[in-house]
Amino acid sequence: MKVIIPVAGQGTRMLPLTKSLPKEMLPLYNKPIIQHIIFECVMAGFKEIILVSSPDKLSIESFFNDAHPTHQRINTKSEMGLACDIDALDYQISVVYQTEPLGLGHAILCAEPLVGQNDFAVVLPDVVLTRDHPSYQTTALKQMRQSFVLTKQSQIMIHEVDPKEVINYGIVGLDGQSTSEIGQLIEKPSIDEAPSNLAVLGRYILGREIWHHLRQTDPDCRGEIQLTTALMQLLQHEPMSAFLTEDKVFDCGQMAGYAAAFIQFTLQSRGQRDNTAKVTMPKINAMN
Ligand code: UTP
Repeated sequence: MKVIIPVAGQGTRMLPLTKSLPKEMLPLYNKPIIQHIIFECVMAGFKEIILVSSPDKLSIESFFNDAHPTHQRINTKSEMGLACDIDALDYQISVVYQTEPLGLGHAILCAEPLVGQNDFAVVLPDVVLTRDHPSYQTTALKQMRQSFVLTKQSQIMIHEVDPKEVINYGIVGLDGQSTSEIGQLIEKPSIDEAPSNLAVLGRYILGREIWHHLRQTDPDCRGEIQLTTALMQLLQHEPMSAFLTEDKVFDCGQMAGYAAAFIQFTLQSRGQRDNTAKVTMPKINAMN
């Protein structure tokens, strides 16, 4: 199964930083966010990766380009431990362009020719996941993929947010208390409308039927085709499951979440190098 990673957004919430630097290239300790995301995907078993990029974000492509002069130098430095941890992994990246930022749904449609009429995953690089010591490495995407294989139902990863924050996210209502079946999906509801505080966080495994609904989705008032609108349509036709993760979730699409993630990954990296280092997290709200 292929995974689509859309990186063609404008990153307006992180201006002026993102004027010339893609937010996906911002560091979490010594690695760009996109490297953490690729690692998560490959560890979850996705070896065919499609980046939907913008023609003006060439720094992302050059990071993965083996012919890049820096890459040659990295090879000679690998014995010093400076090589990229993903270099040793077995995966393949293709790039397709979204020439205008016409929404996440549109970005996914740009990858349709490469995915074909098959099931696929979507991983948003704005959101990074991590776990507590000792391993730190998230396994949620891998588990969600296993649930898809078992149930054949599209899966949406969710996590609990502060009830005051529901207004910022797609919110899921479950069918009953002890089920993972999704009853409702509402984009940015008010606190009163929200069926729960379970927020969609940017990891999806989708059955091939979603292609039809994406193609049928009209642009919204801002001219963008939204994935959530297509998912709401899919929900009318077939059951979908929510996959609740208890990982730490960082929204790196805005400054406070990114700053919190930077501190978290810095402390983790130092902790991994020196087992005696104590990993403590300053109090910064990770999601907003
Ligand atoms: P966001 O909603 O975070 O949009 O997109 P954005 O443009 O990146 O950031 P802001 O809101 O202007 O600050 C969620 C994901 O969808 C991708 C983004 O790159 C991000 O990974 N995306 C969004 C696209 O690839 N194309 C689009 O047209 C919109």
